[in-house]
Amino acid sequence: MATIASARPKPFARNLATDLDLNAEALAYALDLASQIKRTPARFNKALVGRYLSLLFEKPSLRTRLTFELAIKQLGGDAVTSIGPVGDREPVKDVARNLDRWTHGIVARVFSQSTIEELTKWSRVPVINALSNLYHPCQALADALTLTEHFGQLEGRKLAYVGDGNNVAHSLMFTATRLGMEVAVATPAGYAPEADIVAKACEYGKVVVSEDAAAAVRGADAVYTDVWTSMGQESETEERKRVFSPFQVNESLLAKAKPNAIFMHCLPAKRGQEVTDEVMESPCSAVFDQAENRLHAQKAVLVMLLG
Ligand code: CP
Ligand code: NVA
Repeated sequence: MATIASARPKPFARNLATDLDLNAEALAYALDLASQIKRTPARFNKALVGRYLSLLFEKPSLRTRLTFELAIKQLGGDAVTSIGPVGDREPVKDVARNLDRWTHGIVARVFSQSTIEELTKWSRVPVINALSNLYHPCQALADALTLTEHFGQLEGRKLAYVGDGNNVAHSLMFTATRLGMEVAVATPAGYAPEADIVAKACEYGKVVVSEDAAAAVRGADAVYTDVWTSMGQESETEERKRVFSPFQVNESLLAKAKPNAIFMHCLPAKRGQEVTDEVMESPCSAVFDQAENRLHAQKAVLVMLLG
């Protein structure tokens, strides 16, 4: 990996609306920076002095909200948080032009990616996507850091994603392929990732989408899953439990991966649905490393966009 003294990739993205806003060079830089911040956090405790962020959450959050608040404070900055719909009382473009008068950046968890895009269009300060219906780039960055810590160089490694072709799957496809990983996605029929996002990810590396969980997991270095019912889809819960049950990550499925494979999940997990308790608690489970790395990866993003 490059050292912090290496040339900063220019220009850094202005926003992190999708994973692709960090080009390959900026992605490598972000991972290196996150790793340095993790090792020597005190070196960065003045990086955001005098900087304030607006955190907007339309949906619940444990990890994302708390790690952003902690990251901003530990970097010397501060944040204000608004919970509830963005753009109900006034247009999103007006919200953007209020927040950019008061704060130096916006972190937003929203139902629709179009809200992120509207914020980026009108805000004069950086906008960071803290999860939308289509992407979860902060999660994918933390996951890439976790994978790098476990395996070193990721070139030629295989990531299997089993379950719903959702926001987390989309961001993993964009990020893992650009780090040289092959990505195998297995979903039930009708729940595949968005075709245009798959096509875009294929420009960066090998992506195989199928309905065959065993084939996806075979030879994988990491097996990843996420909830079957994402926030906002609660009315589909019972139908999804039925359709997704053959896609549960259990010990028998995991046994088809490489012997030293790790299990990954963005959390929160529904034990007994997409993953068994045994797999969650097994020695190969990296889920809490991923959660820890949310803090360090987001610090790197904040330093790059606002520092
Ligand atoms: N993984 C993740 O984004 O968790 P939260 O929904 O708790 O923020
Ligand atoms: N796919 C999940 C991720 C939660 C972190 C959701 O959108 O609810």
